Amino acid sequence: MLAEIGIALSASACLLYGAAAMHLSPASISEQASPTSPEGGDHPPGASLELIQQGETLYQRRCGACHSLDQNRIGPMHRGVYGRKAGSVESFRYSPALRDLDVIWNSETLDAWLQNPTAFAPGTTMGFRLTNAEERRAIVAYLRSLSDASGAGDPD
Ligand code: HEC
Repeated sequence: MLAEIGIALSASACLLYGAAAMHLSPASISEQASPTSPEGGDHPPGASLELIQQGETLYQRRCGACHSLDQNRIGPMHRGVYGRKAGSVESFRYSPALRDLDVIWNSETLDAWLQNPTAFAPGTTMGFRLTNAEERRAIVAYLRSLSDASGAGDPD
């Protein structure tokens, strides 16, 4: 019975997360497929540990070529980016488009940015789009968790 639920959930997790799930380790897939649900069952999806862990893996895969948490690379360092004003890492040379962008990074603005940076901030030098909405959600949850831990996040 439990095993059947596990299999059903694994299958739906694969459908949901598609190619991303196939890259995850078996351990994290079985965590996602755990049939136990948190008390009340209305845990906000943006805050689940599974999503954050998935976001960390995806962050390294999709963003790691240009970004890291604590060092500027091709793009600015990211720790604390959630809740911070766009273009505000002092040591990074932003394009004028990003430096002058009057936006606070939160779930909404990050999602729109990642979907299409050049539409969100015309003239930006970030030439990378993340078209998969599930991946954006996971990565934004991960970035947000880094700010929550330092007390800088906002509740939504
Ligand atoms: C090809 C390199 C590249 C990739 C891949 C990339 N970025 Fe960027 N990113 C940049 C550059 C360059 C900038 C600075 C843009 C500017 O100054 O106009 C930037 C800026 C940003 C900013 C604004 C930060 C701030 O301090 O205002 C965020 C947020 C961001 N990237 C998130 C991501 C995420 C999340 C991913 C992965 C899904 C990603 N980026 C992938 C190059 C990249």
